[in-house]
This record gives sequence, structure tokens and C-alpha cells, in this order.
Amino acid sequence: MEATRYSAGSTIPLLSTTLSVIFSSRCAFMLKQSNISIDVHLDNRDPDAVREEIRAGLLSTPRTLPTRYFYDERGSELFEQICESPEYYQTRTEHELLKTVADDVVARTGADELVELGSGAATKTRVVLDAMARAQRLRFYVPLDVSEGIVRRVAQELVEEYEGLQVHGVVGDFLAHLGHIPQGGRRLVMFLGGTIGNLGPEAVPAFLSTVFDEMDRGDSFLLGVQLITDVARLEAAYNDSAGLSAAFNKNMLYALQPVIGPAFDPEAFDHVARFNHAEHRIEMYLRSVRRQVIPIPELELTLPLEEGEEILTEISTKYTRHHVEVLLARAGFSPVAWYSDPHDLHGLALAQKPFG
Ligand SMILES: C[S@@+](CC[C@H](N)C(=O)[O-])C[C@H]1O[C@@H](n2cnc3c(N)ncnc32)[C@H](O)[C@@H]1O
Repeated sequence: MEATRYSAGSTIPLLSTTLSVIFSSRCAFMLKQSNISIDVHLDNRDPDAVREEIRAGLLSTPRTLPTRYFYDERGSELFEQICESPEYYQTRTEHELLKTVADDVVARTGADELVELGSGAATKTRVVLDAMARAQRLRFYVPLDVSEGIVRRVAQELVEEYEGLQVHGVVGDFLAHLGHIPQGGRRLVMFLGGTIGNLGPEAVPAFLSTVFDEMDRGDSFLLGVQLITDVARLEAAYNDSAGLSAAFNKNMLYALQPVIGPAFDPEAFDHVARFNHAEHRIEMYLRSVRRQVIPIPELELTLPLEEGEEILTEISTKYTRHHVEVLLARAGFSPVAWYSDPHDLHGLALAQKPFG
């Protein structure tokens, strides 16, 4: 496998994208809609199973809440703001790295279809879409995200920005709905933002194996990981001075309300984020500011919390190159390339599902 280090400062000029101006606005709207299809799978969840998952987490040690509940409309907005905060170096670093490697990735993969897991606002996606357009290979984009609003918004934005692009959005859980990604051409599956770090160590191998199984032979996988770096930098990224991470963390308690009602008072919790050296990961908690007893009728549960007791809401594991390569190899992938920024803050592993 080749290792490539790119200077974060050097960039490749982006292809200027043009909006379709050939049609009247009404016709253009119809055309754009016909280039979009959206499949929603979250409604298929069994409400009892969802409630049981939350209940079991609250009764476990440590107490936990499922990370995906961060990403309602407000949570997705807050995450976009976090990405722009001075402390959150991760997004900027991955964005700059992608700018320098996207042409290489597209040339090596020959992809004409981009599938993105946990696609979010798809800001960095445009760098890869531009590279595919430059290579005249851009045809199809499949964003998969748990947040329906953001999938719909991104689909609309991208068909307006990239003439002729088809977008098939999948609103779903990347731990449950990968089978709903449509069959297509030569696919590049991307999982950026270090989102894999949000999965527990026991979940990662199973997840990577499922990604592998859902891909066709010859398809490629681009995995973005946050690398282990100094603790002060890491902890600052999750404790920004504007309070965005704190608002994001507490917002989960509002996002849970449609499922479990207004049981939790977000003001009764503090935001905590610290590095766990043994597990080489940031852990985010909601810490109870006082002793409280929380009745949650929807879960048939009364939850007693001591002052200072914490509920784990997110882990964000940091990796080494070796660790990533071992995980990918165990899932069956063949290594293709490793890219990192000059300060070794972020890595992008390019791998392929072998032909035979
Ligand atoms: C850390 S953000 C990364 C967003 C974007 N890929 C980036 O690199 O900036 C994680 C994204 O994954 C989505 N997400 C989180 N858990 C998910 C799950 N279980 N299934 C699908 N999407 C999920 C969130 O809605 C969010 O858009």
C-alpha cells in the first residue's frame, strides 16, 4: 500500500459548477426533482425496540444514551457550527487533506458513483464530487444519514450544483440499513469525519464486515479517521469556548423527547468531555448537577441520579494507521493507499473489495 503525505496548504482548483439555467425556474425545479429520490427507513423501526434500547442504556454501567439522537434538525445545525469553531480542527484538516488527494482517489478507484455513510451536510463531499466531475465520471450520489432534513436539503443542493447528477438519499441507520443502498455502477463508499470513532470497539469489526458484504467486488472504501494526538488539543476540540459542544450534548435531551417525552431537564445537566487514555478516545457525558429522581413513564422506569453522576452520550475513538489497516484487512479489504496531513492529525485509508 502506498503512503502519501500531502501538504494541507496546497489545493487543487475546484471545478466551477454551474446551475442549470436552460429551463425556466418551474421546469428546472421539475427536472431537479426527477433527479432526486429519497427512501426513508427510520419509520420502520419497532418503537418498542427503540424504547428498550434507551432503557437498557440508562440502566447499564456506565449509563449511556444512543449517540445517533444527537442529530435531530437542531443537533445537525449545531454540529455544522462546531465544525467551523476554531477548536474543532478535525473537519478543516480532513477537508484540506481531501482537496489534495481527491483526484488521486478518483483515479485509483474509477468510481462513477459515490455512496456516503453519515453524509451530514456533505461539505467535504463536494471536493470528491468535483474530482469525479473533472474525471468526467460523476453520475450518482447516495447520501445515507439518520437526519431526514439534512438528506433532503443536501439532495436538493447537489442536483442544483451538479448538472445531470442523480441523487438517491437513504434516511436510515448505517448500523441497520446498508442493505438499502441501491446497486449501481463502480462505487466509492465514503465514511468521513472520524464518525467510525463513535462506534464502540465491539461494533467496529461487525460494521466494517457489513460494509464489505454490501459492496461489489472492485468497489472502493474511503475511511476517514482521527489520529491520536496531544490530549490538550483533543479535549479543547470538544470543549469549545463558544459552548457549541455543550449545547450539542444537551440538545440530545430535547431530541429524545418525541420518543420518551420531556423527562429530562437539560438545565439539570453539565457537559463533560475528557480523554480516556486506556481506550484512546474522547468521551462525552451529561453530568447531573444535583440529585434527581426522573420518572420516565414511556420506559416504565424511574431513574435516580446522584449529584455528579454521568450519562455517556458519545465516544470518539482516535486511531493509529496500523490499527486502521488491521481493522480493514480483517473485514476483507485490500489496502490501496494511506493519506495523512503533515501533522498526522487525520488519516484517510483507501481500500478495495478485491476482485477474486
Ligand atoms: C460526525 S458527523 C459527520 C458528518 C460528515 N460526514 C462530516 O464528515 O462532516 C456524523 C454524521 O453521521 C450521522 N449519523 C450519526 N449516527 C448515525 C447512524 N447510526 N446512522 C446514520 N447516520 C448517522 C449524523 O446525522 C451526522 O450527519
